[in-house]
Amino acid sequence: MRQLQLQPRLQLLASLIPEGSRLADVGTDHGYVPVYLLQRGLIEGAIASDIGAEPLQHAKNTAAEYEVEGIDFRLCPGLDAVAPEECDTILIAGMGGETIITILENAPWTKRGEHLLLLQPMTKVEMLRKWLADNGYTFTGERLVFDKDHLYPIMLVQGGTQEKLTLGQQYGGVMLDGDPLYGEYLDERIMKLTVAIDGLMRAKDEGHRATAQEMDAIRTALVEKRRTI
Ligand SMILES: C[S@@+](CC[C@H](N)C(=O)[O-])C[C@H]1O[C@@H](n2cnc3c(N)ncnc32)[C@H](O)[C@@H]1O
Repeated sequence: MRQLQLQPRLQLLASLIPEGSRLADVGTDHGYVPVYLLQRGLIEGAIASDIGAEPLQHAKNTAAEYEVEGIDFRLCPGLDAVAPEECDTILIAGMGGETIITILENAPWTKRGEHLLLLQPMTKVEMLRKWLADNGYTFTGERLVFDKDHLYPIMLVQGGTQEKLTLGQQYGGVMLDGDPLYGEYLDERIMKLTVAIDGLMRAKDEGHRATAQEMDAIRTALVEKRRTI
């Protein structure tokens, strides 16, 4: 049987899932990660859930195409139809940071410390980092992956206490030291902040200028961090 191959983003996510996991892949869409892992015998079992019937059907099609049996497909928002004892590893990838926050808010059992969470937001990355630290999750790792012209941060967290994050950590990463793409990531973030600050500074409005000053403080923190790597 042909083996499913993954694109770099999903490949890195799959490699971060501990062997023997009982995985819950939330927002699975095509179901690529659970199919890839089960096809290679790398995990014990998988729940693949999605809020949409069509994406869930895509996942069923992928499993059929690659002759992978045993995936438990669930049509539900977030983790609403998943019980804590059914999984030990939770993957939530390819969604906005705010959606990830809502999913975790609706499943407070994820912060008991019994589950490893792999989170890969497409937007609002700094908001998600801050929310996690302020709401009972601790960072155990962070990684970057380059795929289709984009750099994606991946957060590994579990329930636990985390010191309040600095603005530099919120915007620049908590555990990215040593990642080969860290310099590039900081450069990208500094550039985006610079463009935003320049736009705000051109405005006559006092409020905009105040926001620009706050953003400038974040940029300074990231520039200082960049010098150390
Ligand atoms: C862009 S796809 C990402 C698929 C895959 N996880 C990945 O990283 O490539 C986002 C998927 O999340 C699903 N989704 C969006 N909001 C959701 C929610 N609150 N609960 C469950 N699934 C959701 C969408 O239906 C869609 O299939």
